[in-house]
Amino acid sequence: AMLEDFQASLEQGISKIGVLNDEEIHQAELERVFGRNWNFLAHESEIPNKNDYVLRSIGDDTFIVNRGSDGEIRVLLDVCPHRGASICRAAKGSSSHFQCPYHGWTFKNNGDLVGTPSFKDAYSGLDRKEWGLTQAPRVEIFHGFVFATLDENCPDLKESLAGMGWYLDMIFSLQDEGMEVLGEPQRFIIKANWKIAAENFSGDDYHLMTLHKSTYDIGVMQIPLRENMKGYHIQAGNGHGISFSIDLESKDPLFFYYPEEIVKTFNLENLSEKQLELARGSRVCVGNIFPNISFLMLPLSPDPKNVPPTPLFTWRVWQPKGKDEIEVWNWFMMYKNTSEEFKRASYRAAMASFGIAGTFELDDAIPWETITRNAKGTFAKKNMKLNLQMGMEGMGTAKQVMEWPFPGIAYYPRYEEGNQRHLYRHYLKEMLSEE
Ligand code: FES
Ligand code: FE
Repeated sequence: AMLEDFQASLEQGISKIGVLNDEEIHQAELERVFGRNWNFLAHESEIPNKNDYVLRSIGDDTFIVNRGSDGEIRVLLDVCPHRGASICRAAKGSSSHFQCPYHGWTFKNNGDLVGTPSFKDAYSGLDRKEWGLTQAPRVEIFHGFVFATLDENCPDLKESLAGMGWYLDMIFSLQDEGMEVLGEPQRFIIKANWKIAAENFSGDDYHLMTLHKSTYDIGVMQIPLRENMKGYHIQAGNGHGISFSIDLESKDPLFFYYPEEIVKTFNLENLSEKQLELARGSRVCVGNIFPNISFLMLPLSPDPKNVPPTPLFTWRVWQPKGKDEIEVWNWFMMYKNTSEEFKRASYRAAMASFGIAGTFELDDAIPWETITRNAKGTFAKKNMKLNLQMGMEGMGTAKQVMEWPFPGIAYYPRYEEGNQRHLYRHYLKEMLSEE
């Protein structure tokens, strides 16, 4: 009923705080949102060699993502088909086989059951072929990013990404070699509902001037705040939202402020004419892929007067751990074909801003947690409506860009919450669908 109310009020730009901390809604999301969409699990560069694996999750299920002895990437449910124990006990490693610690059933890393202790006495009639590990129904790899869906009938990844696929293509094909993960993904808990984080990355630039003011004050931001707000919000379809700070008129190519020696390594022939136009004019981009995958490309200058800006790229999953908690999975990445020195510089810039103790990350966690706490208040839950009206007819200066040359529906400037409304419109459609 709360979701139906929300659906009715969304077109007036009104949301309900109660949906941000509710057990019933959380359970339905596991089925309808995380169970039916594409989920990001790992990047190929984390499992470069045969037998490498990492342990990841979709919703509240745990999966082994591995590169088999045959080189193929698989996503195996980490549940032993004998009595249900977990078979994988490390967050990452390399192994041709997995042995269950309970009774010792042993599986090849393609999922086949190959060992059952005391087979003759215990299980002589068992058809082992029937009792391998369960695999995620579908796996797709996009520029090295491994996605899986638990729904056999989900549209292909490309189709699900809709317009967002075009923007991600632009980012990931700048270099032939693509991107790689720097170091290990960081993991940390925020006592917040995942939708708050997804909303934030899909188009909340409005919080920069208050919450992140100190980061501007110390001067690490390459682009002055007022300039940065001159940019676009794009509703990229299927609930995906992306936001750009762009200067399409700039005489010098910007390419997110990558230094010249890196721009030289870009293979611009990989890009369509339109993608090239956008990449040339791009300074910052930040987005959220429905439901819970966010990313950000941002140039930071430790000292803008003396040190040229260093772009960082963060890719993160807001893994729901319950109605009021997320585990943040945070990968820092960089184009593979760049110097070790540059990768280190990018990693340092990333750690200082979007690492666990980074200036941005610490700032954001605080209101996200208070929102989540407030959403549980008995009175607030029943009565509170929240304002999501920025950029609507008569609210502020944002206008739809009628001749937007790239995919999706764009608004200018970034004082606008259409991306968030787009996210919730899609979310409500999935949550309230009949089947
Ligand atoms: Fe795995 Fe028995 S539960 S072998
Ligand atoms: Fe923030």
